[in-house]
Amino acid sequence: MSNKDLLEKDKLPSHVAIIMDGNGRWARKRGNSRIFGHKNGVKAVREVTEAAAELGIGYLTLYAFSTENWNRPKTEVDALMSLLVKTISDETKTLMENNVQLNVIGFKDSLPQRVRKNLEDCIEKTSSNTGLVLNLALSYSSRWEIIDAVKKIADDVSNKKISVDDINADFFSNYLTTSGMPDPELMIRTSGETRISNFLLWQLAYAELYFCDVLWPDFRKENFYEALINYQNRERRFGMISEQLKK
Ligand code: IPE
Ligand code: IPE
Ligand code: MG
Repeated sequence: MSNKDLLEKDKLPSHVAIIMDGNGRWARKRGNSRIFGHKNGVKAVREVTEAAAELGIGYLTLYAFSTENWNRPKTEVDALMSLLVKTISDETKTLMENNVQLNVIGFKDSLPQRVRKNLEDCIEKTSSNTGLVLNLALSYSSRWEIIDAVKKIADDVSNKKISVDDINADFFSNYLTTSGMPDPELMIRTSGETRISNFLLWQLAYAELYFCDVLWPDFRKENFYEALINYQNRERRFGMISEQLKK
């Protein structure tokens, strides 16, 4: 039996975020270059995207490249950028078939021109799809995003578009790259690392965190279902006590 059959369909998260980690270690275990690991991570991306789309999950945010990842050796960064271009081109057809809309969050201006062009084409092509929103975090870091939001708010205050009294949590969320999306209820990180690595710090305030040892290139639909079942078995109290939730 698949873990999928154990899922409660009416208790699925509307937004799942994933830190796809462990490509380098996966490759090294096989005596191969880190880049080989990244290439083999594409299948896992395809699997979770398809699984999320099939389940009717609204948003899937995948951490694909962090601001800090620019500090990796140039050969690895270049290979990742090329892989991104190739993957987007190859997968656009599958995204269309699965009614998936592509969106990118991150500092897009820092991406090479060819990557931006490629992403823009795919975003445009998939823009009228009505199913899953696949949110790729690229050249993304949460502190960059929060500082960017603060600057925009400061600008709007000084231009008298808004007043300081307008600022509250919902208002602030609208200045983030995830504006209009629900906060992730579940955040998955693969590869055994148990940290957030500058990912969605504001949005994950009340997310359930799930860490598993599987290295990203080995992550399959069944692993995704397992994470969802684990999520469904948790009690989300939001500061209250159990008895209040049962009323
Ligand atoms: C995640 O795998 C992919 C990216 C960060 C781009 P890693 O490349 O971090 O793999 P490990 O953590 O070194 O094994
Ligand atoms: C986080 O993974 C970034 C992505 C998965 C894109 P890293 O492997 O870069 O994070 P650290 O360095 O282990 O914290
Ligand atoms: Mg890593």
